[in-house]
Amino acid sequence: MNTENFETVIVESDLLILGGGMASCGAAYEASHWAKKHNLKVTVVDKAAMERSGAVAMGLSAINLYLGLAKGKNTVEDYVSYVKNDLMGIARADLVANIARHVDSSVHLFEKWGLPIWKDEEGNYVNEGRWQIMIHGESYKNIVSEAAKSALKELGENGKYYERIFITEPIMEGERCIGAAGFSVRENKFYIFKAKAVLDVMGGAVHVFRPGSVGEGMGRSWYPPFNSGASAYFTMKSGAEMTCQEVRFVPIRFKDSYGPVGAWFLLFKAKAVNAKGEDYMVTRADELQKWGPYGQAKPTPANLRNYLMLKEVEEGNGPIYMKTDDAIRELAANIPDEKEAKRKLKELETEAWEDFLDMTISQALNWASHNIMPEETPSEISACEPYFISSHSGASGAWVSGPADLAPEGYHWGYGNMTTVKGLFAAGDASGASSHKFSSGSFTEGRISGKSAIAFIVDNPDLPEISAEKIEELKANILRPLQTFEQHKDYANDVDVNPNFIKPKMFMFRLQKIMDEYAGGAAVGFKTSKALLEKGLEYLKFMKEDSEKLAASDLNELMRCWENVHRMWQAESHIRTILFREETRWPGYYFRTDFPAINEDWEVFTNCKWDPETGDWKMIKREVH
Ligand code: ADX
Repeated sequence: MNTENFETVIVESDLLILGGGMASCGAAYEASHWAKKHNLKVTVVDKAAMERSGAVAMGLSAINLYLGLAKGKNTVEDYVSYVKNDLMGIARADLVANIARHVDSSVHLFEKWGLPIWKDEEGNYVNEGRWQIMIHGESYKNIVSEAAKSALKELGENGKYYERIFITEPIMEGERCIGAAGFSVRENKFYIFKAKAVLDVMGGAVHVFRPGSVGEGMGRSWYPPFNSGASAYFTMKSGAEMTCQEVRFVPIRFKDSYGPVGAWFLLFKAKAVNAKGEDYMVTRADELQKWGPYGQAKPTPANLRNYLMLKEVEEGNGPIYMKTDDAIRELAANIPDEKEAKRKLKELETEAWEDFLDMTISQALNWASHNIMPEETPSEISACEPYFISSHSGASGAWVSGPADLAPEGYHWGYGNMTTVKGLFAAGDASGASSHKFSSGSFTEGRISGKSAIAFIVDNPDLPEISAEKIEELKANILRPLQTFEQHKDYANDVDVNPNFIKPKMFMFRLQKIMDEYAGGAAVGFKTSKALLEKGLEYLKFMKEDSEKLAASDLNELMRCWENVHRMWQAESHIRTILFREETRWPGYYFRTDFPAINEDWEVFTNCKWDPETGDWKMIKREVH
């Protein structure tokens, strides 16, 4: 593809929101309200289309964060302590509390906008677990994005939404972030977005590690494969301090199609057993003792639940089964009336299928194609490849300023949710150390950040300039893979194999191989060590060199090139942080074989920062208050 005919489009805004997922929708909704009061412009840019983008794209069967504060069901403190325990002590209480105290109102908005929430006979929400409520959520994202778009429309000319634009790079002026560069994945257009404040809400990262679904299954993943590390790349390249980059999430899921387990464990009270039918949560309970106070926490932290299951697999006791059959039978067993019992059984079967059809349709197809009837047949579950998702049970992301009224010394340096870079804000999977926000909490954190970014803009009303040379330099660099392909494509007769370049898919396979084998992927039982990590870093250095030779035959491949550069940065910060933390704090997510125990000296945040001036990495310990 010739890059000479690429138009350069310059868009000026006050607040620039990058991403189109739940956090973006929350930010657009809230920021529009405050922008209207101050006559400010809000621009949202999404690589896909907001109606179906981000982690909630396919829908959800539950909202995992709802406190029910008005009914006195829980307190904010209860939630903070749950999250801290689940993350083995490593969480920012101020950030978690800030989301928890506001999240219920977001859920009430979703319901007002048309989201069907399950209700019992008295009209109360039906809880799945203590914090989770059941929804008919196939259209969850459509409903929420419609509200976000309506809020932008209220601003008239001041509210703009761009879709199918892939953001690659931050634009800096000294230590302040003043915009972003990207390109359209549909037209020959290069974009420069200038802004007074930028909110990074571009999701987490998938396919950094080699997935279980390879070959014909490739592209299937638990979290959306389109989330490729753009958030972390953007904040790291801006020079922002990152936190918890080692805290990946390894979900336990229905095997091969990644169906959710939450409803089975919490709503249906199903048990997971090894091939001999033993409930490892009972038979191996003693093994939780060695993981500090967290081994005794209730519920058992997610990584420790994984740990017990992985022990079974390691000892050859797989497959592991979710006993869907027993769960359904037991739930219908106490009903004396035969007709009523039959009706209940039918209802449970329907709910079981809906759980998948609402959020992981491929799992329902998997059941259908393997003749599985959940009321008769147990299903295999397994540990998936690692993901970077701080909105769920991972924690990686930018280190952000906490709320003025809750944040202790050292956790607050200005506007709430601002990173350590002036004018750059982060929320959802882009902000770290505030896990378990899920869909509703991400939307809520987007609202908090959107409001806060508008306050920053009111106080910093100047719109910095970006020089023409800078724009040309960005354009040439971002479009380079198209030129590389054009220049060398005729050298070989296979478009994917050429000594002069590397295609993004091959590049991704190489990255996944390194991460899987050296950084504790699924293939090696999530085990790694100093020696392995250092070897992995050495290979990553070669990859960084080779990234200069990425080649793209069209706009879609150009996006794939940059997605994989983003993944590579996520990978490097991950390896560096695992290496820095000399203990095993989250067995079940990863094991340091050279430091196999939890160590209270490491009850700290392990942060990292890439220096844009020198290109050096700095590792930092920060206190957990
Ligand atoms: S989802 O994102 O696919 O819905 P998941 O299936 O992991 O998540 O679980 C939904 C919710 O239930 C999450 O809040 C998760 O932490 C919680 N959860 C899942 N399994 C258990 C369990 N066995 N014990 C306690 N909490 C659980």
